[in-house]
Amino acid sequence: MGMTAVAATPQVRPVEREDRDRIHSIVVATGHFSQIEADTAMELVDASLAGGEASGYLTYVLETPPGTVHGYVCVGPTPLTEGTFDLYWVAVDPAAQGRGYGRRLVATAEEEVRRRNGRLVLIETSSQEIYRPTVGFYESAGYRLVARIPNFYRPGDDKLVFVRDLVPI
Ligand SMILES: CC(C)(COP(=O)(O)OP(=O)(O)OC[C@H]1O[C@@H](n2cnc3c(N)ncnc32)[C@H](O)[C@@H]1OP(=O)(O)O)[C@@H](O)C(=O)NCCC(=O)NCCS
Repeated sequence: MGMTAVAATPQVRPVEREDRDRIHSIVVATGHFSQIEADTAMELVDASLAGGEASGYLTYVLETPPGTVHGYVCVGPTPLTEGTFDLYWVAVDPAAQGRGYGRRLVATAEEEVRRRNGRLVLIETSSQEIYRPTVGFYESAGYRLVARIPNFYRPGDDKLVFVRDLVPI
């Protein structure tokens, strides 16, 4: 344990139906996502709950015993590629940010990608100021900016594409 006091060792596990409301609260609490974005985030969670891996979405939650979920990640194979995965969503409850939970969730997603012979992970994000800390988070996790599509989301709001090459194990 480092300088930060952490209540208990966090565990990362596949999402369960009981996690749905908590995940929704976390997505809303981040203050980062519009209603439509939050709905989209929940569609991916619902797809993985309903269809499991066959849905194309893998969702994991981080909890500290005795069962408080603090964040989640959603990743899946990119259609029509061999070994490329999209990291669709990662969010940590603002009350629990800065404890390494986001890092742990991304590391879990990458492990699961490797287990499925994945080699490349993509993350897309917006160039809005509010995402600047998120960009710092991706860079510190080993992702590099490889593309920018100007005015993608709306005029003045670019799409940024980050990638990480996974080292074979
Ligand atoms: C981005 C997010 C998932 C990070 O989760 P977190 O648990 O706070 O991050 P961690 O504590 O694991 O931090 C991991 C690393 O990122 C860095 N980091 C985290 N927040 C940062 C910030 N605001 N500015 C710069 N770096 C930051 C940390 O310094 C740490 O780096 P280090 O290990 O080299 O010290 C979380 O802030 C979040 O949910 N944000 C809102 C939602 C969002 O933007 N999601 C992504 C778009 S889908």
